[in-house]
Amino acid sequence: MCVRWFLLVLGALSAEADFFQFDSISNVSTYYFNYIYCNIWEGECQPNQDDATQQVPTRDLWAGFPQDYISLLHQWYCSLGQCCESGDCRITNNITGLSRDLQRKLHGQHLAQSVVLKAIQGFLNNPESNKPLTLSFHGWSGTGKNFVARIIADNLYRDGVKSECVRLFIAPFHFPHARLVDTYKGQLREAIRDMVLRCPQTLFIFDEAEKLHPGLIDAIKPYMDHYDNVDGVSYRRAIFLFLSNIGGAAINDVALDFWHSGQNREDIGMEDLEHRLRAETMESHGGFAQSELMSGHLIDFFVPFLPLEYRHIKLCARDAYAARGLEADEATLDEVAKAMLYVPKEERLFSAQGCKSIPQRINFFLP
Ligand SMILES: *[C@@H]1O[C@H](CO)[C@@H](O)[C@H](O)[C@H]1NC(C)=O
Ligand SMILES: *[C@@H]1O[C@H](CO)[C@@H](O)[C@H](O)[C@H]1NC(C)=O
Repeated sequence: MCVRWFLLVLGALSAEADFFQFDSISNVSTYYFNYIYCNIWEGECQPNQDDATQQVPTRDLWAGFPQDYISLLHQWYCSLGQCCESGDCRITNNITGLSRDLQRKLHGQHLAQSVVLKAIQGFLNNPESNKPLTLSFHGWSGTGKNFVARIIADNLYRDGVKSECVRLFIAPFHFPHARLVDTYKGQLREAIRDMVLRCPQTLFIFDEAEKLHPGLIDAIKPYMDHYDNVDGVSYRRAIFLFLSNIGGAAINDVALDFWHSGQNREDIGMEDLEHRLRAETMESHGGFAQSELMSGHLIDFFVPFLPLEYRHIKLCARDAYAARGLEADEATLDEVAKAMLYVPKEERLFSAQGCKSIPQRINFFLP
């Protein structure tokens, strides 16, 4: 943002170049970028330490420049929608919106709702955090892991998942061949470094993380650790999400036990899950589960996603209709929910696919 505004000012200045007698354009750009960013946008000043002679100019120099001209430029720039309180227009960090979306759009996931909100809110409110935020989402497919990742992106970034500050990696898609793992390591490191340089608060999403090769996890581990910087780049404002089905069976067992004993699903607490989740993780094979990420305390929060019941499927169906501007009656919602497969065989309690294909399925029920 600042760069673009700067270029604009630079354009205006070049008309006055005789007055300023600049040596070179590149000299000018660092010089005035610093000046504008520090004094006009009141951003974080970053004096160029490599070259002590290139100090940010004092306000006096700028004072010679007509104030009207500056405010005119400022107004014009803001009229393009490029002015933001945060200083970075790509970042919105809307906690109110995050909280609201998690409450209204996510069904049957009281634990994920509270853990995700607390984790992100705490992280954003603490700029001094000494490591990036790492969350690991666990659960069956269709329980809402991707959905929550999207809600996070939508509320933290102006352009949601399309933002240049959000990067999605799908393990089997981006890193399909085990024999190429050394190539992937380099590519992944470079991609992460590149993104964070351009946008310190980058959101990295690793989908199907259970399929990540152990070598790849080792390669990115340093970025998630408590380092001030790695090769001169600080990753402390980045957010890493790992989505996997690891521990899904354990989570389902706990939910089933609660149901059998007549307890409320909403009374399932983290303490009921943590032990079993850990046990299943230790038993499972594959890179992510066995990686030092899990054992080395680099994951800040484990977020369990519970299997969804009939009533939750109805809510998903209602949302899917609403997304098309339609309002469905109870009977229709029941029809959609009944068409799903429920497991285990005896209890037929949990939707095998969660809410996954609901938006496609309602096509069959449309009038
Ligand atoms: C920047 O300007 C200074 C003098 O103001 C000059 O000595 C230096 O060579 C210039 N640097 C570049 C990269 O043009
Ligand atoms: C944050 O999200 C809420 C709810 O979606 C919305 O009403 C509000 O305008 C958003 N605030 C900003 C600053 O975008």
